[in-house]
Amino acid sequence: MLHDRLGALAALGATDDGIDRALFTPAERAARELFVAWARADGLRVEQDRAGNVFARLGGATDASSGSAQAAPVQCGSHLDTVRNGGAYDGAYGVVGGLEALRRIAESGEAPPRALEVVAWAGEEGSRFPLGCLGSSVYSGLTPYADVEALVGDDGETFAAAVRGPYGLLDGVPVRDGFPPPAAYVELHIEQGPVMEREGARLGIVSAIAGQRRFRVLLDGVAGHAGTVPMRGRADALCAASEIVLAVERAALDADDTVATVGHLVVEPNQTNIVPGRVVLRIDLRSVEDGRIDLAERRIRARADEIGAQRGVGVSVETIETRAAVPMETRMRLLVSAACAERDPRAITIASGAGHDAMCVAHVAPTAMIFVPSIGGRSHVGDERTAPADLELGVEALAATLLAAAHAPWSG
Ligand code: GLV
Ligand code: MN
Ligand code: MN
Repeated sequence: MLHDRLGALAALGATDDGIDRALFTPAERAARELFVAWARADGLRVEQDRAGNVFARLGGATDASSGSAQAAPVQCGSHLDTVRNGGAYDGAYGVVGGLEALRRIAESGEAPPRALEVVAWAGEEGSRFPLGCLGSSVYSGLTPYADVEALVGDDGETFAAAVRGPYGLLDGVPVRDGFPPPAAYVELHIEQGPVMEREGARLGIVSAIAGQRRFRVLLDGVAGHAGTVPMRGRADALCAASEIVLAVERAALDADDTVATVGHLVVEPNQTNIVPGRVVLRIDLRSVEDGRIDLAERRIRARADEIGAQRGVGVSVETIETRAAVPMETRMRLLVSAACAERDPRAITIASGAGHDAMCVAHVAPTAMIFVPSIGGRSHVGDERTAPADLELGVEALAATLLAAAHAPWSG
């Protein structure tokens, strides 16, 4: 079931190089529809919220007892959107693995005292609208819904239009009132790096999720004829941008345990015989220590100013996203540790360099994560893989954690 479902999702948005499933596109909507169909077939109750998050609920004892208020559920989940040319497991595994864990719990006949929910969070990758963890950020109250509605996608459409458009909210799925937080949250995910494979670990207990900061840099130079404008005195926006790209790399190298990437760059007018007049680039900067991010940011800003001044190019650096590093919650982490240690004597504790919806949900509920290895450490690429037996083991650890968490005495 797990593997068939992952295979079915992988076909949605498949390209020659991977999978394209940006939020509120036909392929992404099809993935949410498939999730709803599977959840209903598994006997779960399905709802969505205004941000496009979809919830599938297995009722607990308190749901069944009439007259009493329903206790907050224990949640798991991840996302169904992908980066451009992404892989079949990043996000999808946590969603499908969540359904599988709930199916196994339901089939075991054990009625958990609290409801359990699997959530397909909307737009985790920020691959259409310029905000990562979009749905979970709204859900957790970190980003006001009105701010998200105003976001403009790379294709020029606003979130407000897209969520109401043909590929936005699902038909026939009730819209939940508000964003009530869960009692606790656990996210199952692939590692997306090489550490677990190198250590021979099949399960990973996440200690913390790296903080991230994203910036948009606008460079305004002077366009001109590539054949006639002398080399000296040019204000070439792309030459300035190139120096800034290298300054970003240097800032991360000098800050230790910090990574920085320029993965998005738009050149105007982008023609062979015109000196580039304008460039927009985006920087992604991360570390599990926020102080290192601060340091790298200071260096990047200082160098960007210098480079702009030296080249006569206007440079402005705008922060577009800030997420602090998030440690996993102690009690949930202990439940994850017990579930992992029982199934893998070589399970390791590991920090996550990648961002996850868990880093938002952690602001409103005790949160932890379980990792499984990525073959060759490959992720955000089409050849992302995890061994089927490891995928299975991760689901077992997730089911055990969910059950233990459902029995734990959370407030709410
Ligand atoms: C999401 O995968 C991120 O870490 O950017
Ligand atoms: Mn992910
Ligand atoms: Mn990702």
